[in-house]
Amino acid sequence: MLAPKKLLTLDKSDDILSVITDNYIVDENKYMQSLLETITFSDKQLDEQKQKVAVLIQDIRKASSSVSGIDSFLQEYSLDTEEGVVLMCLAESLLRIPDSETADALIEDKLSNAAWEKHLSQSDSLFVNASTWGLMLSGKITGLGKNSEEKPATLIGHMIDRLGEPIIRAAIYQAMKIMGKQFVSGSNINEALKAGDNDRNSAYTHSFDMLGEAALTAKDAKRYQQSYFDAITAIGNKKYQGDAPRPGVSIKLSALHPRYEESQRGRVLNELFDSVITLIEHAKKLNIQLTIDAEEMDRLELSLYLYKKLYQSQAAKGWGGLGLVVQAYSTRALPVLHWLNCLAAETGTQIPVRLVKGAYWDSEIKLCQQMGLQGYPVFTRKVNTDVSYLVCANYLLSQAQNRIFPQFATHNAQTVSTVLYFAKKYQNHQFEFQRLHGMGQELYDEVLKQEHQKAKNTYVRIYAPVGAHKDLLPYLVRRLLENGANTSFVHKLVDTKTPVDSLATHPVRQIKKYNHFYNSAIKKPSEIFSDRLNSRGMNLHIEGQRKPFLNQVNKEFDRQYHVASLINGKDTFVGKKYQVISPYNHEKIIGSIGLADEKTAKLALAEARKGYPIWSKIKIKQRAKILNLIADLYEKNRHELIALCIREAGKVYQDGIDEVREAIDFCRYYAAEAEKNWGQPLMLPGPTGETNELHITGRGVFLCISPWNFPLAIFTGQIVAALVTGNSVIAKPADSTNLIAHRAITLMHEAGIPTNALQLVFGCGNIVGQTLVEDDGIDGVCFTGSTTTAKHINRTLAAREGAIVPFIAETGGQNAMIVDSTSLPE
Ligand code: FAD
Ligand code: 2OP
Repeated sequence: MLAPKKLLTLDKSDDILSVITDNYIVDENKYMQSLLETITFSDKQLDEQKQKVAVLIQDIRKASSSVSGIDSFLQEYSLDTEEGVVLMCLAESLLRIPDSETADALIEDKLSNAAWEKHLSQSDSLFVNASTWGLMLSGKITGLGKNSEEKPATLIGHMIDRLGEPIIRAAIYQAMKIMGKQFVSGSNINEALKAGDNDRNSAYTHSFDMLGEAALTAKDAKRYQQSYFDAITAIGNKKYQGDAPRPGVSIKLSALHPRYEESQRGRVLNELFDSVITLIEHAKKLNIQLTIDAEEMDRLELSLYLYKKLYQSQAAKGWGGLGLVVQAYSTRALPVLHWLNCLAAETGTQIPVRLVKGAYWDSEIKLCQQMGLQGYPVFTRKVNTDVSYLVCANYLLSQAQNRIFPQFATHNAQTVSTVLYFAKKYQNHQFEFQRLHGMGQELYDEVLKQEHQKAKNTYVRIYAPVGAHKDLLPYLVRRLLENGANTSFVHKLVDTKTPVDSLATHPVRQIKKYNHFYNSAIKKPSEIFSDRLNSRGMNLHIEGQRKPFLNQVNKEFDRQYHVASLINGKDTFVGKKYQVISPYNHEKIIGSIGLADEKTAKLALAEARKGYPIWSKIKIKQRAKILNLIADLYEKNRHELIALCIREAGKVYQDGIDEVREAIDFCRYYAAEAEKNWGQPLMLPGPTGETNELHITGRGVFLCISPWNFPLAIFTGQIVAALVTGNSVIAKPADSTNLIAHRAITLMHEAGIPTNALQLVFGCGNIVGQTLVEDDGIDGVCFTGSTTTAKHINRTLAAREGAIVPFIAETGGQNAMIVDSTSLPE
C-alpha cells in the first residue's frame, strides 16, 4: 500500500482507484506505522483528552444506570456465554415460525439445555434478573427463589406441565419482541416517523433504513426497492417541526439486486444502477438525503464503481444528497476517502460521507480464513481500527472541507471526543454525528447537552431501521455481536467492572504498547489448522487478485497433453489414441490418450507388487514428507491444474480453485494424521505386565477408483491415504478425466513416490477395473462412485478365495434436505 504521505499526493481519482484495487491485502504492521505518522499528539494533549473522556464516561454511566435494562441484559447474556448464543438463536428464529407446535418444540429445545441458573443474581439489574427468571420459568413461579434445589431444566419441564405451553410461548414471544424492538424504530415507516418526532425536539434527526438485505431473487429486490420508494414518499411528504435537519434514508445495495457481486459487474452497473437512480430521482425531488450503506469487503470495489456512475449521473449532478459509508476497519479506508475527495473536486458536487468502523468484522475474518488468503483486508486489532478511524476523521476535517460533508457514526465516547478535538483544531464544524437506534443514546444526550449549546449546528442523526421481524435477522445479529463482543465500547461501558481509566485511554497511546500491530491472536488464514498449513486460495471478487490469476490460468489453455497409462513411470498403451475434448465446447481439443487393455492392467499390478515391499519399509515420517511435497508441487502448479479442471472436467474457475485446494489439503491432512497416529507403535494395555504394541503397516497393493466430479481431490485423497499407510497403489481415474489424473501422478512421482509404488491405468471400468478387482494380487479397493458399481465390486471381491479384502466405498446418492421454518431461507 502506498504510504499515506505518497497517496495524498495523487490527485486524480482514477489513479487512486487503482491504488484501492491493487491493495486488497497489505502488510498491517507497516501500513499502521505509516498511518500513525499522519496524526501527532503531544503527551499533554493525550492526557487532556483522557481526562475529558473520563468525565464524559462517568456522566454517561450515571445517566444510564437508571434506564438501560436491555444493555445490562445484553451484558449478562453476552455472546461469550452459551446462554447468550441460545437467546440469539431463539430471538432470530422464533418469530418466523408459523405454527405453535414447532414454536413450542424450539423453545423447549433451546431453553432447556442452557445453564440459566449461572446468571441468576449475577447482575445488579432487576430487569436482567427478572428476565433470567422469566426465561427459566416464564416469570410465573417467582416464589421458588434461588434456594430451590430443582435444576432449571426440570423446573421448565414442570412449568410446561403446569402452565401449559401456550402461556410459556406467549411469554417468550414477548421477550423476543422486546429484544428485536430494541433495535427497530417501527414496523412500518409511519410508525417509525411518529416515534421519531420526540427525538427531533432534542437536536436529533434520522436516517431511516428499510430492513432487508442480500436479496436472492428479483422479486425480493423489487419488493425492497418499493419499500424504499414508499418510505421516501412518506418521509418527504411529512412536515417537520424544529431546526433539526430533514431525515434521510439509508439503503443497502445488496437488497436491490439479486446478483450484487463482482462476477455480474455488467448487470450491477446497469440494472442495479437503474434501480438506485429511480430512488435518487425520487429522493432529490423530495429533498431527502440518500446514503449507501457499506457492506462486505468483497463488494467494496464494485460499490465504488457503481457509486461513481450514480454520482456523476444527470440525476445526482449538483445535488449533494447522495452519500456513501466508509468503513474504518478496512485497510483501504483512507484511500477510499481520498478517492471520494478527489472525485468531488473533479465533479464539484459535495459528498456526504458516513464514517463507521464497520459491522462485518467477524465474517470478514472467517471468510478470508476459509478462502485461504494471504491476510486480511481489515485490521486485526480493535485499537488499529480506532486509530484508523481517527486518521480518517482527521483527514476529513482537515483536507476535505466543502467537498465532503463528514458524518461521524460511532458509539464510542473516546472516538467522539477526539473528533470534537479535531473539529476545534481545524475550526471546522461542518459535520454531524450519527448513532444507531437503541444504542449510544446516553452518550449523545451528553454530547448534545455540551456541544449543541456551544455550536447550534451540532446534530446527531439516528440510523433507524424500519420493518418486520422476518427481515430483521442479519441486522439483529450484527447488533447483538456489537453489544455482546467484549472488545466493544458499548459492552465495556455498561460493565461497571471495566475501569473508566482503561476506557478513556487514547488509542494512540494504547497502540504504542504493541510491538507488532498485526494481532497474532487472529490466526493468519494459512495457519488456521493446528497440524498443517491451510491450502492457498484467492479471491475472485477482487480485481487485483483476479486479473493476474486469470492471466496465469488462461495461459495454460493452449497446452496439449498426449498421454497414456503410467506403468512404472512410463506412458504405455495399446491400439490407437483417442482425442480428449472439452465437455463445454466440443471444438476445443486438449490432447489425446491411449487406453490400457487387460494385459497392461496386469503389468501395472506386477510392477505395483514389486514396489510394495520397498515402499512399505520407508519410514512413516519420510512418507508423510513426500505427501507434503506433493501438496507443495500441486500448489506450485495450481494454475495448470485449475486450467485442466476447467478444460477437461468442465469446472468453473471457483470450482477449479476449490478442487485443487481440497486435493492439497488431503495430502497435508493425511500426512499429519499419519505422523500423529502411526509415527510410533500404539501402546496397548498389558494386563499381566506384558508389553503390547500395535504396529500399523500397509496391506499390499490398493486399487483406487475415483469419480469424474472431483477429478483431482477425490482422486488424490484416495491415493495418498493408501500410500501414506504403506501400500502401493494402482490408480484408475474416471474415463472422462484421465488428463488431470496423469498430471497428478507425474507430480506425485516428482515429489518422490517411487514409480513402481504408484501406477496409473486408463481404461473402461468394466475391462480394466474388473480384471484387477478379480485378481488376488489386489489387497484392497478404494472406490467412490455409484452404488451399483460399488455393489458389483463388493460381490466380485466376496467371490475371491482367501482372506476377506478390505473395500472402502463412498457411494453416490441423493438425500432429501428438510428445511423447517426455524431457518431463514437465504
Ligand atoms: P467500538 O466499540 O469503538 O468499535 C467496535 C468496532 O471495532 C467493531 O464494530 C469493528 O468494526 C472494530 N473491531 C472490533 N474488533 C476488532 C479487531 N479485533 N480488529 C479490528 N477491528 C475490530 N457498519 C457498516 O459496516 N456499514 C454501514 O453502512 C454502517 N452504518 C452505520 C450507521 C450508523 C449511523 C452507525 C452508528 C453505525 C453504522 N455501522 C455501519 C455500524 C458500525 O460499523 C458499528 O456500529 C461500529 O463499528 C461500532 O463502532 P463504535 O465506534 O461504535 O464502537
Ligand atoms: C448495519 O446494517 C448499521 O449498516 C449497519 O449493520
